[in-house]
Amino acid sequence: MEDPLDLRDLVELKKQGNRLPSGAWRRLVHGVVEGRADERQVAALLMAACLRGMDEEEAFHLTMAMVESGKRLDLSSLPTPRLDKHSTGGIGDAVTLVLVPWLAACGATVVKLSGASLGFTGGTLDKLRAIPGFRTDLGAEELLRVARKVGAVIAAQGPDLVPADKRLYALRDLTSTLESPALIASSVMSKKIAAGADVIALDVKVGMGAFMPDLAAARELALLMVDIGRRAGKRVLALVSSMDQPLAGRVGYALEVEEALEVLRGELRGRLFHHCLELGAELLAAGGLCSGPGEARDLMLRQLEGGYALEVMARMIEAQGGDPRVVEEPGLLGRASEEAIVLCPQDGYLQSFDGRRFGWLVRRLAGYGAGGRPLNLAAGALMRVSLGDRVERDQVLCILRGEKPEEEVGEALSCFRVGEEPVPPPPLVLERIT
Ligand code: URA
Repeated sequence: MEDPLDLRDLVELKKQGNRLPSGAWRRLVHGVVEGRADERQVAALLMAACLRGMDEEEAFHLTMAMVESGKRLDLSSLPTPRLDKHSTGGIGDAVTLVLVPWLAACGATVVKLSGASLGFTGGTLDKLRAIPGFRTDLGAEELLRVARKVGAVIAAQGPDLVPADKRLYALRDLTSTLESPALIASSVMSKKIAAGADVIALDVKVGMGAFMPDLAAARELALLMVDIGRRAGKRVLALVSSMDQPLAGRVGYALEVEEALEVLRGELRGRLFHHCLELGAELLAAGGLCSGPGEARDLMLRQLEGGYALEVMARMIEAQGGDPRVVEEPGLLGRASEEAIVLCPQDGYLQSFDGRRFGWLVRRLAGYGAGGRPLNLAAGALMRVSLGDRVERDQVLCILRGEKPEEEVGEALSCFRVGEEPVPPPPLVLERIT
């Protein structure tokens, strides 16, 4: 066991509001990963950083120290452009499921690593587990093999990629320092940089169904993440987009896979489709596959309508051990036996929707927190209305499926606010940083 590390000087400096140099952030991260740092001092430093703030340079140094805490994925043997995307999380966010195969069908290589689900949002890995046989625990070699063969792979982030993040995140969770923009940005960007892509699109969500409550906070986070990525030599762009209602018309695990497959089959052109088209076009243009987003949109539509995006999805599912028939037979995803209907109590307009509470409700429908039982991946909700819609008394607002759905009807109803004043539907993309 090496000597314990004393971080008191760093805590003092940060407490006074000073900038910490790159060596200080490396000392902190090494100390955490090697188990030499006193967690009380790390917690104090995190709190001081959260309260006194960190500038862009500090955020960059912390990010790079975190990247260096583990291995990096080497994608250099794969065809270019190598694209990646990250969402800051929201409900009904099935973008990865649609976009990864769609971009590969347009000629890009997409290696997407996903972490565990955070809070009220369902994680991509859980969604993919709804596909019979699908494996996400691929080692680096298998990951590269699938990416080379198919052009697309979605897998769990292994423990040797940015090990510092797991420990720091756990401490931030315990000490109520999760929401610091610099700490979020370094956590996200360290994983993106270590994952090896050349071009990264950040999908920064704002609204009641996201972690960022307002546009100013989301913009600050987006700018900081873009800055970190560019300092690290990556091409990075960000869209700040609305999460005032679920992106998909279905919220859940298997249900979101089902919706993603409908988009890939070219059958559904709702919010999920439009958002994927916007984000994907920016990525393809930034990756140099098209001269600009307009041309990229045309390419994406051609590949979708030609059935190529769906074909890549089927090949990716097969290469990762899943049953590729699922792309045409959604019944293979399973269906929850119990259902409850949520009816509108009055005439009016759907003015707002509490996506955060609804997200927790969906997790409960799946049995989350019920004594370590596996999640019921068929659980979820079918949304029947959108923000701004004129609604009538006794109209169906949504259908709940899963464990004891009737017990959640009251809670579900309270997530919808119906009033007399009409409201416009929110725009999908609020800001672009390209
Ligand atoms: N997502 C992450 O990966 N890290 C954070 O700190 C917040 C969201």
